[in-house]
Amino acid sequence: MAAPEQAIEALLLEHRVFPPTEEFRARAHVTDTGVYERARRDPEAYWAEWARELEWFEPWSQVLEWRPPHAKWFVGGKLNAAYNCLDRHLKGPRRNKAALIWEGEPGDERVYTYWDLHREVSRFANVLKSLGVRRGDRVAIYLPMIPEAAIAMLACARIGAVHSVVFGGFSAESLRDRILDAEARVLVTADGGFRRGRPVALKEAADVALRETPTIRHVVVVKRGGGLDVPVRMMEGRDHWYHDLMAEASAQCPAEAMDAEDLLYILYTSGTTGRPKGIVHTTGGYMTQVHATTKWVFDLHEEDLYWCTADVGWVTGHSYIVYGPLSCGASVLMYEGAPDWPDRGRFWRLIEKYGVTIFYTAPTAIRAFMRWGTDWPARFDLSTLRLLGSVGEPINPEAWVWYHEHIGHGRCPIVDTWWQTETGAIMITPLPGVVPTKPGSATIPFPGIQAEVLNNEGQKVRSGFLAIPAPWPSMLRTIWGDDERYRQTYWSKWPDIYFPGDGAKIDDDGDFWLLGRVDDVLNVAGHRIGTMEVESALVDHPAVAEAAVVGRADELKGQAIAAFVTVKEGVEPTDTLRKELRQHVAEKIGAIARPDDILFAADLPKTRSGKIMRRLLRDIAEGRALGDTTTLADPAVVARLKSEYEEKEG
Ligand code: WTA
Repeated sequence: MAAPEQAIEALLLEHRVFPPTEEFRARAHVTDTGVYERARRDPEAYWAEWARELEWFEPWSQVLEWRPPHAKWFVGGKLNAAYNCLDRHLKGPRRNKAALIWEGEPGDERVYTYWDLHREVSRFANVLKSLGVRRGDRVAIYLPMIPEAAIAMLACARIGAVHSVVFGGFSAESLRDRILDAEARVLVTADGGFRRGRPVALKEAADVALRETPTIRHVVVVKRGGGLDVPVRMMEGRDHWYHDLMAEASAQCPAEAMDAEDLLYILYTSGTTGRPKGIVHTTGGYMTQVHATTKWVFDLHEEDLYWCTADVGWVTGHSYIVYGPLSCGASVLMYEGAPDWPDRGRFWRLIEKYGVTIFYTAPTAIRAFMRWGTDWPARFDLSTLRLLGSVGEPINPEAWVWYHEHIGHGRCPIVDTWWQTETGAIMITPLPGVVPTKPGSATIPFPGIQAEVLNNEGQKVRSGFLAIPAPWPSMLRTIWGDDERYRQTYWSKWPDIYFPGDGAKIDDDGDFWLLGRVDDVLNVAGHRIGTMEVESALVDHPAVAEAAVVGRADELKGQAIAAFVTVKEGVEPTDTLRKELRQHVAEKIGAIARPDDILFAADLPKTRSGKIMRRLLRDIAEGRALGDTTTLADPAVVARLKSEYEEKEG
């Protein structure tokens, strides 16, 4: 199991319970646990009720068609995701409400009302059409955290094009692979963005990718502005400035009536092979569940100012910056940059300045705040906050309690939300007005969702693998271009039961404790990275013969990347090479995948059948006593590695 044993022990010793406060309950959407029972009795009727909160062009004829492992939700229904996020709100008092309040890292600001955002999205939808984009075509989006990212996503949705957002921190090669896999026709990028005061040159990286992406006909380049000065080369006929195209585009663009099961987007995520998987999400079920969870989990009210600190390049940004909150008609704060720029008070300053009421972030960020000290948040007025959220990895009780005290001032409930790119929306979470919370537990499944803990044989146990035994509206529909991999990865462990790849325990109250990945996927600072991806990047270097990558516990990032590398005959394993390899991985995948430790090893521990024993490498990287080595081909290899590792670390 990927999670460190000490952390799990700490989790299970955690007995504090925080019931919802009277003050919070007094105005919460959900204050009675009856919703759980209602949803359990008739989940289809329950989800249909949620779907009716959206606006449909044509009604569905059947709520669910389940032919395992394929589900269709709201069969025959027609709707448009962008229409539900924008047009729907123009009819009433939300017309002039701030939809998106954006602040760039240098401090530049932009505010879009629902009216403004509808206009910009409609214009960009026309731009895409003018570039030949049709229903079903794929559009790649490689942007910093600027409003145009949301505009481009919604513009795709408006005309029925499928977006594939690639996180701006990914390398040119990662971008290229994702463009090629999805056969995207158009790329939307920017000259660059800001990160810790420094410009990040995105178009330059895109240019490298574009040398090998024949499917791309047109590239739209946003000028970030705000004093950003990075050189951009525009290729005649292929590259166009966003502002030039927008200046000529009409603001009238009808929203296409999409089938509930038409694709909304593809989002790539890491799996257990070297090749990322294109997770496919469709329209009706996805919109229904992101809408429902945004409203109830964050207890969203009309006057809230909601801030999710994720990047739109990840699923959290898709579901809880764009589709969920905008579908609910919320005012959403979007921030471009780092939490420690120009100083470590930036997030708290933003909360004070805009009066943020709901704040959704990741445990890795909370642990960094803890390290930076309580003085920073204490300097700012955080009294507008009324609810805090956590997502992306297990939150250690210590960080939970710190968050509760120093950010929430003991007043704000914390929703620890478990979900994945594949699930599309939140699955296990407290409802803040009714469910008592426990530091480190994501508590119970959202109403209408089922979850269990099973062993390999599929029997219910207290400690084992998390399992989702029934289809849910926002579930992934397949892996783009590889339905067999979809079946294998998620549905082959137990018959007709979804396997998320996480370890879990369930306590006496029925609360779930998520314990991290049980497959070869790492969770580094809340980012999913496949060990195989990092290994392929390493062996791609001419000096490397073989590489094995494991996660080791890290106080700040949850997991850090430890790589064991054997070099080729005649290559000197030097510090310079170590640096070069780290850089090489950053160039192949992105800086988030740069290994923290690289240990040069003469041999890697293997079973007699030649399989690398990662468990042993994890033990070594985490400085633990070695477990059972009797199945090893050559036990001496491990003892040697262990002493080498300790020498290096010591
Ligand atoms: C982990 C992010 C414990 C988990 C939304 C999952 C969590 C993976 C939690 C998905 C949580 C996410 N508690 N673990 N509250 N939230 N995870 O696809 O291992 O980037 O499988 O989606 O993150 O990561 P992904």
